Amino acid sequence: MALWLLWLLEPAPWGAPAPQTTVTILIWHWPFTNRPPELPGDTCSHYGMAGCRLSANRSLLASADAVVFHHRELQTLKSRLPLDQRPNGQPWVWASMESPSNTRGLHHFRGIFNWVLSYRRDSDIFVPYGRLEPYSGPAPPLPTKSKMAAWVVSNFQERQQRAKLYRQLVPHLRVDVFGRASGRPLCANCLLPTVAQYRFYLSFENSQHRDYITEKFWRNALAAGTVPVVLGPPRATYEAFVPADAFVHVDDFSSARELAGFLVSMNESSYQRFFAWRDRLRVRLLGDWRERFCSICARYPYLPRSQVYEDLEGWFQA
Ligand SMILES: *[C@@H]1O[C@H](CO)[C@@H](O)[C@H](O)[C@H]1NC(C)=O
Ligand SMILES: *[C@@H]1O[C@H](CO)[C@@H](O)[C@H](O)[C@H]1NC(C)=O
Repeated sequence: MALWLLWLLEPAPWGAPAPQTTVTILIWHWPFTNRPPELPGDTCSHYGMAGCRLSANRSLLASADAVVFHHRELQTLKSRLPLDQRPNGQPWVWASMESPSNTRGLHHFRGIFNWVLSYRRDSDIFVPYGRLEPYSGPAPPLPTKSKMAAWVVSNFQERQQRAKLYRQLVPHLRVDVFGRASGRPLCANCLLPTVAQYRFYLSFENSQHRDYITEKFWRNALAAGTVPVVLGPPRATYEAFVPADAFVHVDDFSSARELAGFLVSMNESSYQRFFAWRDRLRVRLLGDWRERFCSICARYPYLPRSQVYEDLEGWFQA
């Protein structure tokens, strides 16, 4: 059985102890904003998780069952951790969905955090950017394909691997580029209908790291109804999440020219095969921080109590 299917079917561990009382998760910084969303007590019930409360109220530090620190704010606000007020044995969670290339200052956090919440599969709380879930069709109709390849990029830097590959592809493949870096920005609601007109979407990650597969793959390509051409972790990583014939991996080709030739000369029956998964599976996007944080409660009874990340940076860079 394919790995991704095993993962999909993995049952909740047997004998899961029902939480005695509500688990309270304190979110020290709400990610990317200083205005946390409304967090009613039933927030996590909304995501299928009972007995779980999220709060941004720092007065709960003394009593929270776990405290989450989002890395971006630790990095940019240089905010101090409330180490002197930390109750004995209170689990602290380091949370980030960014890759190591976009993460600085981890060496400040030696021996502090007990659990990690990230896209890395070996995280204590593993939160991918998306997943496929069973679905008994009929699959929604695919948009009509009138164009070849699209790419949306907001931060174009020549030193990035994806910029190099793009430069090598354009002599052989028509690529329409959108996004801030191209001078053709797309409004939030225009992105999916625009890229859906294309046969292929360049799901090029901004940096290549273990398990780092983002919404460029899940949302911009799979959910939009176009075929992702991926630059990211190795093919085997993608195959842990989706069927092997749902995407084109740039590593399968010895040159950009060969990759372009494959995309351009593909006939319709070969092309349609990339969508076979849609008859039985559908994309679920997992971009909501509330849902990500609520998933801490699902793992809470099983997380190691005495674990400490002595070398968080070393772990994350590995
Ligand atoms: C924060 O929690 C404290 C302690 O439970 C409570 O007294 C206070 O009213 C809360 N603040 C807000 C804004 O909910
Ligand atoms: C389409 O291309 C595939 C792969 O090259 C080939 O095996 C198949 O026979 C082609 N189908 C048609 C209808 O031309």
